[in-house]
Amino acid sequence: MENPSKYLGNELKYLEKVLNSESWSATGGNWNNTLEKAFAKRFGVKYAVAMNSGTSTLHAALEAAGIGPGDEVISPAITVIMNSTATIHANAIPVYADVDPKTFNIDPMDVARKITKKTKAIIPVALYGLPPDLDPIMELAKKHDLIVIEDNAQCVLSRYKGRLAGTIGHMASYSFENTKHISCGEGGMIITNNEKYAEMVRKIGGHGFKNLKAEEGRIRLNQDVFQNPHYKRHDVLGWNYRLPEFNAAIALAQLERIEDLVDLRIKSAKYFIDVMETCDYLIPQYVPEGYTNTYYTLGVVYEGDKSIGVSWEEFRKAYINNGGDGIYGAWSVAYLEPMIAERQFAKRCPWVYENVKYEKGLCPVAESVQPKIMQFKTNYRDAKLAEIKAKVLLKTIRQFSKK
Ligand SMILES: Cc1ncc(COP(=O)(O)O)c(C=O)c1O
Repeated sequence: MENPSKYLGNELKYLEKVLNSESWSATGGNWNNTLEKAFAKRFGVKYAVAMNSGTSTLHAALEAAGIGPGDEVISPAITVIMNSTATIHANAIPVYADVDPKTFNIDPMDVARKITKKTKAIIPVALYGLPPDLDPIMELAKKHDLIVIEDNAQCVLSRYKGRLAGTIGHMASYSFENTKHISCGEGGMIITNNEKYAEMVRKIGGHGFKNLKAEEGRIRLNQDVFQNPHYKRHDVLGWNYRLPEFNAAIALAQLERIEDLVDLRIKSAKYFIDVMETCDYLIPQYVPEGYTNTYYTLGVVYEGDKSIGVSWEEFRKAYINNGGDGIYGAWSVAYLEPMIAERQFAKRCPWVYENVKYEKGLCPVAESVQPKIMQFKTNYRDAKLAEIKAKVLLKTIRQFSKK
């Protein structure tokens, strides 16, 4: 469906500039560089490295931190599969920590229980836009010498105890995939204050060119050197995770109005939250004191089975029949996805994964809350639309209270 209001800012203007420029790649153009500088400035960090997805960023960050075969990486049980896949791409072992039943975010106490001698990194995920409890995680990281990579693919400009999420871990990862706060179709960003990590992340995502630097993604800066047949180019094993200049230009235009984009999601979520207060069975993701949630989506625990005798599926159907948008359930607990549960990944590195297995019951809180979660859309281009859909929700709640 056409949605012209999706590009209200400089998107088209910048795209045309890219089309008319010499380089459409980060190896020669300026758009990645400009986006990175603006992103780093907005978050108040030293370095930002743009990539082609929020999965490449996670993989590159793990590799940059030296995570490799046999190392263990802890991530929450309720999250997308990409935390697991990025870990496996680094030939490391995914370890799952249970979640808090009210915030749905990683439980630091369970992280502590899951740490072993092999643990090297933690990926706390800010689910649906709410930062996890990062202080105890950073304490554990300090105690056990672990790297923390905040996965903020769904969380832009949220605050944790007054601090901007993304500036607390050793690195933070963002996604610019189609549904995210900032979108350019596909894309991602790593931010960090650590020069060594920034340089390695860039090299790992840029074919391991040795002249890539923390602040510089262009590789053909000195033509006399670069064109010389004796020049040795690569000193690190890399992948091609570069963000095309077109995507960088669109992401920059989106970043320029990030406050508006974030406000729109918060406003949209609030319409639904207000309506949910009229019943006792739609319980929004709990936002602890001192945290803010930028509502990539509105996560809710549905208790209608118990409260009104209406199943998750029935309630969703009624809402849609009344004119509401589709309600997504939460992704399956990651280790129960067939790729993990059936060890499909194990064949890529058999000696590492020989004794690794995952079973039901590993994270009981996550397993009990996941089927109850409903995700309400907040990605509206106009808050008025969210207001209309919230009224549809109210009608649906009233319909069931009459029964
Ligand atoms: C929490 C989380 N992490 C990682 C990713 C991966 O991002 P991408 O789709 O850009 O690879 C996503 C988005 O899909 C996400 O929601």
